[in-house]
Amino acid sequence: MVGKLIKSSIKTLRVLKESGVTDNLTKFPINRFEIKESKKLTNAANNLDNIEIMNSKTEKQLSKVNTIDELKTYIEGFKGCPLHKDATNAVFSDGNPKSKIMLIGEAPGHDEDIEGKPFVGRSGKLLDKILDSIDLNREKVFILNVLKCRPPKNRNPKPSEIEKCEPFLKKQLEIIKPKLIIALGRISAITLLRKKDSLKDMRNKIHKYEGIDLIVTYHPAALLRNPNYKKPTWDDFSFIRDEYLNGK
Ligand code: URA
Repeated sequence: MVGKLIKSSIKTLRVLKESGVTDNLTKFPINRFEIKESKKLTNAANNLDNIEIMNSKTEKQLSKVNTIDELKTYIEGFKGCPLHKDATNAVFSDGNPKSKIMLIGEAPGHDEDIEGKPFVGRSGKLLDKILDSIDLNREKVFILNVLKCRPPKNRNPKPSEIEKCEPFLKKQLEIIKPKLIIALGRISAITLLRKKDSLKDMRNKIHKYEGIDLIVTYHPAALLRNPNYKKPTWDDFSFIRDEYLNGK
């Protein structure tokens, strides 16, 4: 009886095979296009390895860079991040490299990409007004971004892009040696502080980045979207004036 059943099953399988059937349908659907979670994790880990390897290579090359002009030339020729392909210019920095106050934004936008300078668009104009309100200007501060190239359509920077650009940020800090870092907006703050906190929670504190005082405030673009942020931003910059300027 069992032998007969096996023979008939083999016959059925043979017919199915000859008709081109390659899969057995089960009660439950199988998504054959799905990338398995384990595969995703392996890809992510490989990617991380690549970034670590690349960053240690970049850091080795950067150890030979000593001046801000050398660093600018290095960054302008850097092809390790895909963002450079669509960028018109790598946006290095603006302001006075001798300044002790460094402002760090997120990434270049459309206008910055064209001009090759940080904060030259609408939010840059507002930043100039904010600086002026505490008697600062671009000759008295140094301005840069976490990312040196514009993300397409001004989307948020990806963690991998931030990581690839971080050796440049560190080198800029090493050369400039500021006394105070002002992180403009959450992306800049969480990149530097390695935190996932809200901007509100990071304000009103003096943090440290590599031993340097760091203050978090709103990004000027946030003020353009929401005027309610003007007052707290004014409070932050008044604090900066009282604690770090005025002859201190
Ligand atoms: N926003 C930024 O974060 N940086 C710029 O340079 C311009 C807009």
